Amino acid sequence: MFGVTPDKDGQVTARIIDGKAIADSVLGEVRERVLALGSRGTEPTLAAVLVGDDPASMAYVKNKRRACEAVGIRSVLHRLSVDIPESGLLELIAELNHDRSIHGILVQLPLPDQIDSHRVIERIDPDKDVDGFHPVNIGRLVIGLDSFRSCTPAGIVELLVRSGVQIEGQHVVVLGRSNIVGKPLMNLLVRKDRGANATVTVCHSGTRDLAAYSRQADILIAAVGRAGFVTADMVKPGVVVIDVGINRVDDTAARRGYRLVGDVDFDSVSRVASAISPVPGGVGPMTVAMLMWNTVKAAQRTGT
Ligand code: GUN
Repeated sequence: MFGVTPDKDGQVTARIIDGKAIADSVLGEVRERVLALGSRGTEPTLAAVLVGDDPASMAYVKNKRRACEAVGIRSVLHRLSVDIPESGLLELIAELNHDRSIHGILVQLPLPDQIDSHRVIERIDPDKDVDGFHPVNIGRLVIGLDSFRSCTPAGIVELLVRSGVQIEGQHVVVLGRSNIVGKPLMNLLVRKDRGANATVTVCHSGTRDLAAYSRQADILIAAVGRAGFVTADMVKPGVVVIDVGINRVDDTAARRGYRLVGDVDFDSVSRVASAISPVPGGVGPMTVAMLMWNTVKAAQRTGT
């Protein structure tokens, strides 16, 4: 889609899609909206719920709260013990649903085994469901109505649009069918909207000869949760690659003893692709930016 140009060593190198820079520009727009709401007496507020002390979940929530602070959104953290019964979490959600000072509710996933995450998500008031996971919001997204869009899929579309990647009419292949990425993403991409209107193929663990599909992609989106899953032989030259994976791999040389890598083997694929989003610094910051966007949208809707 973009020109594929060899570098001075004759290697093809893809343009890097800078998720951090694009997320910063989204956050700038969010900040303006927060100021406008403030002048009308509304302080957008996000309630974050963290169950247990999983290090990755703690890091994600910390990141999200830091973004709130950066754009002027108030955030309130509710930490619950890892063995809290489901009823305890549902009670908290009922309280947050009724609290008019709370505009958005985020329950960090995954939840411990004793809690049914579907039941939890369904209890969140759809008007406060800034993650866009509630069946009402997913259903509205599927049929093309206004809704809270799931943050990672919305962030991916925004990343492509703001990088100047044409989506309309392109063949997008999505690897992964999760409820939080693959399914909402495929539905966003097939909508008859600007920045969508694509032909979408979804591949998953039951797909036979997955590479036969991935090689047909104009835009390939990898969300399988397996480090380095997509290799250069699985893509066609000039493809645009979006890497959704965030996988920890052991690295004794790293300060924390691990490093984060995506689902795409960046070194080999970036020599074949025309553009590629890195990990970290690609989709991750966009997910957080879209959460901020949704929280402001929730506050704008209520005007309280
Ligand atoms: N766990 C992994 N991704 C997400 C997300 O986007 N939102 C929430 N709430 N939990 C997650």
